[in-house]
Amino acid sequence: MQDVPLRVALIGMGTVGTGVARILTDQAERIARRAGRPIEIRRVVVQHVEKSRSVALPNGLITDDLEAVYADKDIDIVLHLVGGLEPARTIMLRLLESGKDVVTANKALLCEHGDEVFRRARELGRTVAYEAAVAGGIPIIAAIGQSMAANQITSIQAIINGTSNFILTEMHEKARPYADVLAEAQRLGYAEADPTMDVDGTDAAQKLVLLSQLAFGTKVPVTAFQRTGIDKLELPDLRNATEFGYRVKLLATARLIQGQLEMHVQPTLVKANQPLAKTSGAFNMVELTGDAVGRLWYSGAGAGEMPTASAVVADLIDMAVGRAQLTFSRLDIWREHAPLPLLPATEVRRRFYLRFNVEDRPHVLADIADILGRHNISIASVIQKEAESAAIPGGPVTVPLVIMTHESTEGAMRDADAELERLKSIRPPRVRIPVAS
Ligand code: HSE
Repeated sequence: MQDVPLRVALIGMGTVGTGVARILTDQAERIARRAGRPIEIRRVVVQHVEKSRSVALPNGLITDDLEAVYADKDIDIVLHLVGGLEPARTIMLRLLESGKDVVTANKALLCEHGDEVFRRARELGRTVAYEAAVAGGIPIIAAIGQSMAANQITSIQAIINGTSNFILTEMHEKARPYADVLAEAQRLGYAEADPTMDVDGTDAAQKLVLLSQLAFGTKVPVTAFQRTGIDKLELPDLRNATEFGYRVKLLATARLIQGQLEMHVQPTLVKANQPLAKTSGAFNMVELTGDAVGRLWYSGAGAGEMPTASAVVADLIDMAVGRAQLTFSRLDIWREHAPLPLLPATEVRRRFYLRFNVEDRPHVLADIADILGRHNISIASVIQKEAESAAIPGGPVTVPLVIMTHESTEGAMRDADAELERLKSIRPPRVRIPVAS
């Protein structure tokens, strides 16, 4: 083991930065052994120097002077633990231009500006590692980028937003309403500062973009595929899904369909006996299918201080021993391949769960079946419960009607839905959730 320490700087002391500082100080001997030399934290850059910290750092390390990091020739590696797009992008580029290798956990930055960041790093002979940007503590970037190198990945199906999975689990298991559970997810620290991107599917979509780029060599903008969050889901649909033998999960999917890339992030019914359906609470799971290895499941904590810090420190060790530099320079990612075309959303084939509130009178079911049938959508099962009484005295009696369809295209389903919307016998809500295949 060398005596000369590897000098690093941390930028950002939020949840992840705190965890990283904790591992590097509490486990200094173990990390030094694995890195081949001691790791010395040279500077910790924060916005508010005076703020109290839950991890003890040697005096004088904490600063708000970013310029000093760029200028310090002794700092080899910087742990870039800054969220958002700006100033995170500018900081990243300045670090690379100052001769630093960079470990980042910022998925939004790589999703939006990854090609620029990686191109610049390559031009400058620098390395960027980003295991912590997707699925927290799960080593999914290494799995796709290295361990599955013999395979063509044909499918990624993933639960990659812990906040949404926590909320759905509580709604399923304790019948708690959405808003209550969201507040708890925020208290527990799973959700981002602004949880909108967690619950509207954006966070999962950004992670899917990074995984797909690695697996399929194709960069798809986050706005190019269907993205629906869990923020409109209602308890009756989760209850019905359970009755049909399913769980509702926020599923991020990217798969190869005859040379085209199918991508979407949507609440989806998953068969209750599948590993993805059994992934509970804030846990993440990524199911990968490779043409040689078959299906693999990677599961664990996808967020939080120590799991995410675990991935950051692993990247740091890889850089210290020179593995990350080799991987980065040879990974055939972010390069301009002939990109795969995106399968149009209307051509995606799935089964569907449908729920309507219908008037309880003759021919209503026949009208619905007729519309579905004319769009070539076959009904697999139907549940209609008996009505108790009219919501408005003297008004029409309505009953919930739940239909599971056989496979059809999204386009046929949308066309049928536009006709169903015009049926006077159907009252809101009209719910449509795809079923995983
Ligand atoms: N807020 C994210 C989640 C964790 O709930 O999964 C960071 O990506």
